[in-house]
Amino acid sequence: MVFKINGGNRLCGSLKIESAKNSVLPIMAGAVLTDKEVIIENCPKISDVFAMSDILRSVGKIVKFCGENLTITPDEGFVGGDLNFSTDLASSVRTSVLMLGALSAKTKKAKIPYPGGCDFGGRPIDIHINALKMLGAKIAEEDDRIVCGSPIKGGKAVLPFPSVGATENVILACVLGKGDSVIVNAAREPEIVDLAAFLNRLGAKIYGAGTSVIRVEGVKNLNGGTIRPSPDRIEAGTYLVAAAVTGGEIELNNVNAENISSLLGKLCDNTCKFKIKNDIIYLHSGKRKKAFDLTTGPYPLFPTDLQAQASVLAAVSDGRSKIKDEVFKNRFAHVVELKKMGAKVSVHGNLATFDGVPVLHGAEVCAHDLRCGAALVLAGLNAEGTTVVHDVKFLERGYYAMDKKLAALGADIVRA
Ligand code: UD1
Repeated sequence: MVFKINGGNRLCGSLKIESAKNSVLPIMAGAVLTDKEVIIENCPKISDVFAMSDILRSVGKIVKFCGENLTITPDEGFVGGDLNFSTDLASSVRTSVLMLGALSAKTKKAKIPYPGGCDFGGRPIDIHINALKMLGAKIAEEDDRIVCGSPIKGGKAVLPFPSVGATENVILACVLGKGDSVIVNAAREPEIVDLAAFLNRLGAKIYGAGTSVIRVEGVKNLNGGTIRPSPDRIEAGTYLVAAAVTGGEIELNNVNAENISSLLGKLCDNTCKFKIKNDIIYLHSGKRKKAFDLTTGPYPLFPTDLQAQASVLAAVSDGRSKIKDEVFKNRFAHVVELKKMGAKVSVHGNLATFDGVPVLHGAEVCAHDLRCGAALVLAGLNAEGTTVVHDVKFLERGYYAMDKKLAALGADIVRA
């Protein structure tokens, strides 16, 4: 599958943002902790959600979309067994690793394959494993799978880096049980706040989510419940940059401006004007952009998941821009492709330096991962001529109906 884009159209109009992919996926893992029904509202129909649904089905859940909502209920006819899932399923989505914490809490023993997900350099899980061990879990490797046995005893887990996934895995592992657990140097991302709010609604006792110290008091069991995760700040940010690189004027509904303030700050410095009212952001983009510097970091710093999209802005801004990724130091697959479209950019270590050109030109390019793909679509919208983005399956892991949403804003884009 490809996206074929005839660039140069100014994006104008309004669109609605989905619930955050990175909240929905850990919440789905959290649904394993209860035997009651869970409903996730405004859930994006993206392939990462479908992959996570298959994992839940293989451990005894019925997972269905009802309109825009995803419902997860226990399968009464499920025969049980090992509560295991295949290596293929695990490699299809990174958050399969969260089943380690969730399943071990629910069944007292989890045996899961190593996770997959977007590949931008090594994505180890040592922080997950060491944190679980610090809280009393016994972890081993059997038949190329990770085994997590013995319940969490409680205590303190100090993370060497505020890993989002490790923070989520530890929260999931600690919710059911007797212990009182503290996570120090926890990730503070809004998606952690969403996961904790969801589990607390079900009856968990999690305190301090959104700060760097989280405390989890174990409870006996959880109820069911409904959750509307926060809007996808990365989807919103992607469309804002799309408007910026096309000199457009767009309104996004269902956004939380606070969660993307680091991006809004950069765009403001960059000849864009905003109006923000409740959950609506209106952006009016000026013409030629000014060069800028940015460095990614854990929340509330600039998100690594918007680094590739910001790179497109840098590629067409007037002057020299520098972009450093301090979270994934090797996340520059988009740069090779942007060069094919006329971008003047060099990468040294985790620093990309752009000498802006007035406009990119169309080319055949390849989406190597989810956000790389998003960046190439934005580049295609800016470019003169036709751009063909190959491997849009990566994009469809995280963006619901991106071609249709962009077409509704006036982009000339088709999926073929
Ligand atoms: C999550 C997000 C991803 C985002 C990332 C950083 C989901 C589903 N994915 O990924 O979109 O880009 O946060 O905001 O929510 N690390 C280790 N050892 C570990 C774990 C992580 O060295 O055990 C390193 C990673 O290689 C990376 C950094 O820590 O350099 C951040 O990773 P982490 O925060 O764990 O990202 P993910 O949870 O995988």
